[in-house]
Amino acid sequence: MDRRRLLAGLAAAPLALSACGGGTADAAPVDIPPLKSAAPFPMGVAAMTEQFGEPAWDDLVRSHFDRVTPEWEMKAEAVVDDAGRMTWDRADRVVSSAEQRGLKVFGHTLVWYSQVPRTFAALEGDRRRFELAYGEYVRRVAGRYAGKVVGWDVVNEAVTDDGSGYRADNAWARNLGMDYVRIAFEQARAADPAAPLFLNDYNLEQLPKKRADFLKLAERLLREGAPLGGLGTQTHTPADLAPGEIGRCIRDLASLGLPVHVSELDISLARAGLGDHREGQRRLVGEVVEAVMALPERQRFGITVWGARDKDSWLVREGKRDAPLLFDDDARPKPMAAALVDALKG
Ligand code: G3I
Repeated sequence: MDRRRLLAGLAAAPLALSACGGGTADAAPVDIPPLKSAAPFPMGVAAMTEQFGEPAWDDLVRSHFDRVTPEWEMKAEAVVDDAGRMTWDRADRVVSSAEQRGLKVFGHTLVWYSQVPRTFAALEGDRRRFELAYGEYVRRVAGRYAGKVVGWDVVNEAVTDDGSGYRADNAWARNLGMDYVRIAFEQARAADPAAPLFLNDYNLEQLPKKRADFLKLAERLLREGAPLGGLGTQTHTPADLAPGEIGRCIRDLASLGLPVHVSELDISLARAGLGDHREGQRRLVGEVVEAVMALPERQRFGITVWGARDKDSWLVREGKRDAPLLFDDDARPKPMAAALVDALKG
């Protein structure tokens, strides 16, 4: 998504949010069973290094989730400095903290158009050297965590929002063409022989043309024999998304027969504008569960929420107001969490 536009919109959100009764003062907290016990598929949550040291977050995550996705620590911005030195401490700490708690780790993300290590600038225009450095980067990150992650988002957000097809205005596509996607999957497989390798993107629910382009890229990878092992739909959605969109999206993604991962779920009140959209949140979380439950078991890679408590959400930082997640700021389950459990019961 155009993050600048989105975040600018959120800056105007307080009025909308207060009008929709948003914020963490949701209805009376509800009582739910551990989500990871209620769900017949993995329940994941985005996690950051320092959160493991916070008892309320730690208790909540250990009670309800069986998998974490490092929110930023495995990305280029955290693992490689401007001189090209690899710095593993943040990602290593997420992995070790998760392992100590019996939580699995889903790797995110090896290649993203919006995070290109500075050192690649000097290689632009020299296809051979660029490709060698690119392959080495992917192999080093994927290789370090081979056997420690249960899968990878190998390439994130390769498709444009405006229906024009694949993102071209980035170092990866400029220097390698769209082969950058296939090469990333091949290099990740060379470094990690076992992990299922995912293609991940956002707005696939709201933008059918983007979804079609995403599937076209996935089919191209399969035709080329790339080791594509799954499809991730981030599902950052406004609470007023029209009924049926999420189900259509997940069914379309599942049509390739690969595992489908709802990889970054949050349901924004602020993005839904004026009015009380908490019922919309409950409806949409139910739609996500129903769509995943309708998949064959081998295609249910799981649901990952992009934060444990509302205050942990990227949509809430720097003073912006929203209440997009399952648990309130005090780690209490919200009616949205109860709606998820109800949908799991069928
Ligand atoms: O906390 C550190 C701080 O210690 C450090 O000094 C500072 C130096 O820049 O960085 C701080 O980390 C920030 C981190 O969020 C934690 O707040 C990073 O700067 C910042 O870039 C990072 O932003 C993350 C963003 O991706 C970019 O990596 C967000 O947390 C994360 O929620 C967001 O997640 C993305 C998915 O990967 C892809 N889909 C969209 C989603 C939302 O944008």
